[in-house]
Amino acid sequence: KTIQVFAPATVANVVCGFDVLGFAVNEPGDEVVMRVTDKPGITISKITGDNGRLPLDPAKNTVSVSVRHYLESVGQPHLGLDIELHKKMPIGSGLGSSSASTVAGLFAIKTLLGDDNDVAKLLPFAMKGEEMACGHGHADNVAPALMGGFVLIRSYEPLDVVRLPHPAGLYCAIVFPDVDVPTREARQIIRNKINMKDAVTQWGNVAGLVSGLFMNDIDLIGRSMKDVLVEPVRSMLIPGFYQMRDMAMELGAVSFGISGSGPSVFAFTRDEQTAHNITKKLQAFLTGIKINSNSYVSTI
Ligand code: HSE
Repeated sequence: KTIQVFAPATVANVVCGFDVLGFAVNEPGDEVVMRVTDKPGITISKITGDNGRLPLDPAKNTVSVSVRHYLESVGQPHLGLDIELHKKMPIGSGLGSSSASTVAGLFAIKTLLGDDNDVAKLLPFAMKGEEMACGHGHADNVAPALMGGFVLIRSYEPLDVVRLPHPAGLYCAIVFPDVDVPTREARQIIRNKINMKDAVTQWGNVAGLVSGLFMNDIDLIGRSMKDVLVEPVRSMLIPGFYQMRDMAMELGAVSFGISGSGPSVFAFTRDEQTAHNITKKLQAFLTGIKINSNSYVSTI
């Protein structure tokens, strides 16, 4: 039996919701091809699109490690599996690259075994993959990659994940400046103590964003996507962050911010053309400061 599964890139945090909000985009994404074999244990026979950066060793790859945890939980720890991983998005981009692979792998094994439980049951296994990739098992990439759309992680202990609606016709422009911002390091530089005034501002914005999603109020969504806790620190790792924000807002973006831990940035727009105008302008700016980039335009 063989199965091929695609899982999408995701934008975690959504500016104000550090570790608790994320949404999936249509593209890019990663693909896993999984095959049941006669030989006990998991092998990874092929990885493409990673420029040789990812390990074929199943003990070191987030896909095989999370699939192994799942197999143990269903009492089939020795099942023979071969995995091919096709990376179709940049690694270390802030677009949930490891999450997309992990989620594709977990969905593949769930389907191969005919497990008809809710996909959300796969989350704890996917979070193990995140923990391995960057030292912390956050769910704001894996949950939307698995469930689609906008997702809120209401609580981690116990895990409580809520799907949120969003206005139809909202577009997302993403630009990935090809600079190195490892999530592990981008988590280490943020403050772990915050003051009450900033906390009040932040939870006002999170509540405003969630309300805007429910009310189809794009202006409210835009006003609320502000971050006084994490962005002021992480933006320093992204060359020209504030210049790019000004350019995007001048071109009509609803909001602008860092995708996940960066270096990708994203903007919400009300139409597709504006999203393309933004990616074009930002990529030209990055070329001007000698930074390569990729861009994507997606509905949510
Ligand atoms: N919430 C996580 C972080 C997402 O910001 O570190 C990582 O992609």
